[in-house]
Amino acid sequence: PEKGLKDYYKDYFPIGVAVNPRMVQPGPEADLIKAQFNSMTPENAMKMGPIHPEENRYNWTDADAIADFAQQNNIKLRGHTLCWHNQTPRWLFTDTEGKTVSREVLLARLKRHITDVMGRYKGKIYAWDVVNEAVPDTGTSLYRKSKFYEIIGEDYIEKAFEYAHEADPSAQLFYNDYNTENASKRERIYQILKKLTDKKVPIHGVGLQGHWSIYEPTAQELQASIDKFASLGLKVQITELDLSVYPKEHERRQRRDTDKSEFTEAMREKQVAQYKMIFDVFRKNRDKLTGVTFWNLSDRYSWLDNFPVPGRKDYPLLFDEKGQPKKAYEGVVKF
Ligand code: G3I
Repeated sequence: PEKGLKDYYKDYFPIGVAVNPRMVQPGPEADLIKAQFNSMTPENAMKMGPIHPEENRYNWTDADAIADFAQQNNIKLRGHTLCWHNQTPRWLFTDTEGKTVSREVLLARLKRHITDVMGRYKGKIYAWDVVNEAVPDTGTSLYRKSKFYEIIGEDYIEKAFEYAHEADPSAQLFYNDYNTENASKRERIYQILKKLTDKKVPIHGVGLQGHWSIYEPTAQELQASIDKFASLGLKVQITELDLSVYPKEHERRQRRDTDKSEFTEAMREKQVAQYKMIFDVFRKNRDKLTGVTFWNLSDRYSWLDNFPVPGRKDYPLLFDEKGQPKKAYEGVVKF
C-alpha cells in the first residue's frame, strides 16, 4: 500500500482526523481514514447533547461505532468533549419545573456524565478534551459567562478535571480552545491553566484547535503559543486543524481586502504555502507536540461550509471533494 500521512509522520506525532459515524461505515471514506490516519476524534458523537439526550438515557450508538472502528483498525482515539457550553442537552441546567438547578445539582450531573461516558470508553480513549472553550474571545475576563460558570462558579473547570481523573486515571486530560494565537486570549487561557497546574489539578495537556486560514497564524505566533503552554509542563496537541481559504473578518480589515468570495488559484497556492509552513513548525516542535488532528477528512464536507457564511463552500483540508490528495498534501509530506 502507498504511504499515508501517518507513515510520513511516524517519527514525529500521530496524525488524526475528526469523523462522523457515516464515515466509518465500509466505503471510500473509511478506506481513506485507514490509509492516512492513526488517530481519530468524533466530530460530534461524544458531545453531551448527542450522547446524553435525557438525564437517564444515553445514546451510545454513534460513539460506539466510532470507537469500534478505531479499535479494529488500531487507530488511537481522542474523546471530545465532556464539558462545553455548546451542544448541551436540554435537561442539563434545569429541573422538571424549568427552574435553574443549584450548584450542587449541576456538579452532581456533570460528575455522573463524566463518570459514565469515560467509564464506557475506558482503555479505548487515550486522551479527552475535558473542558472546551471556557475563555471568551475578547475583553479582560478570564472566564466565559457560560451556564457552567454562572451556576457553579470558576471551579467548575477543576471539578471537571478531577471527576475525569477519577473516572479513568490513565487517560490524558486536555483543556481545548481556539484563537490561541491571539495574544490576549492566549494570556487569559494561560492564567487559568497556571492556576490549575499550581493547584496540582490533574491536567496533562492543552489542545490548540487550529481553526486557521491561509493568512494566519504566522510562524512566530504559532511558536509563541506552543512555547507558552509547554512552559507549564503541559503536552500540546493541535486538535482541530483546518485552513479556511477565506480571510477571517479581522484579517480582511487589516489587509483591506474587498474580495469576499471566489476561490481562486492564488488562494490555492497560498494554502499550499501555509500548510507547508505550519507543518515545518510542528516538526520543529516534535518534543512538545503529541498529536495533530484535522477537523474533517476532505473538502467534501467541513463545518466551515456553513460558518461564518452559511452555504459558502470552503476548501480547508488536504484531500479534495473526491478524497484525492491536494497539492497542499505534497507540501506537508515532502520534507
Ligand atoms: O445532527 C443534527 C440533526 O439531527 C439536525 O437535523 C440538524 C439540523 O440543524 O442538525 C444536526 O446537528 C448539527 C451537527 O453539527 C451535526 O451535523 C448541528 O446543527 C450543528 O450545530 C453541529 O455543528 C458542529 C459544531 O461543532 C457545533 O458547535 C460541527 O459539526 C462541528 O464540526 C463543530 O465542531 C467544533 C468543535 O466541537 C469545538 N471547536 C470548534 C469546532 C467548530 O465549530
